[in-house]
Amino acid sequence: MDNNKKLLLNIPKIDDRHYKLFELFKLFDKVPERFKKNDSKHLETIISDLEDYIKYHLSLEEELMQKAGFDDIENHKKQHRYFIKRIKEMRLEFNYMNPLLFDKINVFVKKWFISHIILYDQQCKNAIINYLRIE
Ligand SMILES: [Fe+2]
Repeated sequence: MDNNKKLLLNIPKIDDRHYKLFELFKLFDKVPERFKKNDSKHLETIISDLEDYIKYHLSLEEELMQKAGFDDIENHKKQHRYFIKRIKEMRLEFNYMNPLLFDKINVFVKKWFISHIILYDQQCKNAIINYLRIE
């Protein structure tokens, strides 16, 4: 994220949380080792923390879009809902302890998030910046 300008919105409230999310994604890189050790408690914590943080972040982002009067908010919220649904499904899949699950999360979640920031968050950026200036 550090060297990709497309991922920066120049809205610290959002950029800081995106950064934190990318930090959480990094935890998935070490997951195969944990699987070998059968450390299911740790894995469960990683995925539920991720789910919680994503829900928290997306709802704050929606609140800002709402306050900023962003006109395409419904479409944007649909994207968020779809993402939350997928994460929830993945968390439920955790109960089966399928090793592929973490690869799936790793790939899907990162890719989705990156493309969402570039395609959607960048669209509401100006509305939010304007709103925060008059706040
Ligand atoms: Fe978003």
